Amino acid sequence: MRKGGIVAFPTETVYGLGANAFDPEAVSRIFEAKGRPGDNPLIVHIAELAQIDELASSVSDDARRLIHAFFPGPLTLVFQRSEKVPPSVTAELDTVGVRMPDHPMATEFLRECGVPVAAPSANLSGRPSPTTWQAVLEDLDGRIDCILEGEATDIGLESTVVDCSEDVPRLLRQGAISIERLREVVPEIVDRAGAEDAAPRSPGLKHRHYSPHAKVVIIENGLVENTENAGFIGLRMPLDLDGFGYLRICSSVEDYAKSLFEFFRECDRRGLATIYCEPVAETGIGAALADRLRRAAQG
Ligand code: TXA
Ligand code: MG
Repeated sequence: MRKGGIVAFPTETVYGLGANAFDPEAVSRIFEAKGRPGDNPLIVHIAELAQIDELASSVSDDARRLIHAFFPGPLTLVFQRSEKVPPSVTAELDTVGVRMPDHPMATEFLRECGVPVAAPSANLSGRPSPTTWQAVLEDLDGRIDCILEGEATDIGLESTVVDCSEDVPRLLRQGAISIERLREVVPEIVDRAGAEDAAPRSPGLKHRHYSPHAKVVIIENGLVENTENAGFIGLRMPLDLDGFGYLRICSSVEDYAKSLFEFFRECDRRGLATIYCEPVAETGIGAALADRLRRAAQG
């Protein structure tokens, strides 16, 4: 990392692919390795709260409350960026996303790096985010310098993103920290996740995302048209069991969220044509899960 390498590392959400955020050449290698469009900004990861001051030019009172409540954790906050952050990290935006992971190996790695680490999810652009080091290897073998082999990630979906760069904070991407929990701390947060104008603010949302090669179908009324060469993931057994090539019944919504991206990848490894997904209630992490299901079904 100190010599400009790029390294994949586990966090509590998904695996990230890191580079020294202050080294534009290292940062450009991330975009190259992932095949990531240059207009999609990277999140900068930190190990100490004091590092926010090198990255953000100002931090509002609401942002301070969110930091106090949720850092370290699965929350990314967007600030006005300081001059020190290279434009390539933030895709020329005048803002920067900052996250402090809550994961022992991530924290130790970030401390050892000694600099803020720019890191998107460690997948090829357009593929599901990796929740295991094997999934990182599957996508990026030969394209990156190193993978830190941690456990499978706990949460399995990417962080909640909140834009704190203007007067009223806005939710841009749903994640494990739900809007309900955010509003316990800052009641006036505006929900722009999934809104048309969230895309320019969170450019990653306009790109194709989370997609397996198989066609993803969200089941309505428990009915499945054709189980042939298909997979199923959900909380309850589907009505029609015959023929599914691969089945995953999850024990809770949390387990469903944690299992989804790896299930997508496994269906692709097995060459299945269709993946049926049970819809979930949109509260707590269910909102983020429903969002990822919808995006995958669009992909
Ligand atoms: O959980 C996570 O957030 C993982 C782990 C590795 O930390 N990272 C991750 O990064 O999911 P990525 O690059 O796959 O997604 C980052 C999202 C994108 O939707 C991007 O557009 C948005 O955050 N984002 C980053 N910087 C932003 C900014 N300055 N303004 C608005 N949105 C931003
Ligand atoms: Mg990503």
